[in-house]
Amino acid sequence: KRVAVFISGSGSNMVRLSEAAQADDFPAEIVAVISDKPDAKGLEKARTLGIPAHALARKDYDSKAAHERAMLDLLAEVKPDFICLAGFMRLLSADFIRAYEGRIINIHPSLLPLFPGLNTHQRAIDAGMRLAGCTVHFVTEGMDEGPIIGQAAVPVLPGDDAESLAARILTVEHRLYPAALRRLAEGGVRMEAGEAVFSDDAG
Ligand code: GRF
Repeated sequence: KRVAVFISGSGSNMVRLSEAAQADDFPAEIVAVISDKPDAKGLEKARTLGIPAHALARKDYDSKAAHERAMLDLLAEVKPDFICLAGFMRLLSADFIRAYEGRIINIHPSLLPLFPGLNTHQRAIDAGMRLAGCTVHFVTEGMDEGPIIGQAAVPVLPGDDAESLAARILTVEHRLYPAALRRLAEGGVRMEAGEAVFSDDAG
């Protein structure tokens, strides 16, 4: 299966997806990295990994629709089976998502449905959470509310600040995302009628 990865920043999740995809038995290959930020560090990492990397700067387009049209035109060339959002900090429109219904996934740094949106680590600490983590989910029109494919949890430790918690969660993100993509690409999970359906579900 062909996978395009969307990034906006460091691209550490994209790197781990790419590394996982090197395995002979991995059912997907990363065929493109696309960023809305031309200075995203992940673009250089993608090029070093030999993955075609494209920057489509939002500021080069006079509207969200024009920017999305450019991304969709690029995707029409790339022809991905799946799109992985990995540190991609832009909300995609309903039209864009519909064009890839059930084929876009995202990793979010909280145990959804807790803490959708931004600043998830500080919010978890402020709420006195003892458990935190990350979620891979199908992308639907609402923000961070699509059907969940997988989650990984870590403890919140005394003395944690947002930075130390983020670092602990990032280490499990890097294991969860490749496992989730493997399951998606091999058909072990799919989105049906707005739900995640796992192939090993009993009948
Ligand atoms: C990660 O915490 C990820 O969960 C969030 O963006 C952060 C940076 O990701 N979506 P990356 O290093 O750019 O993959």
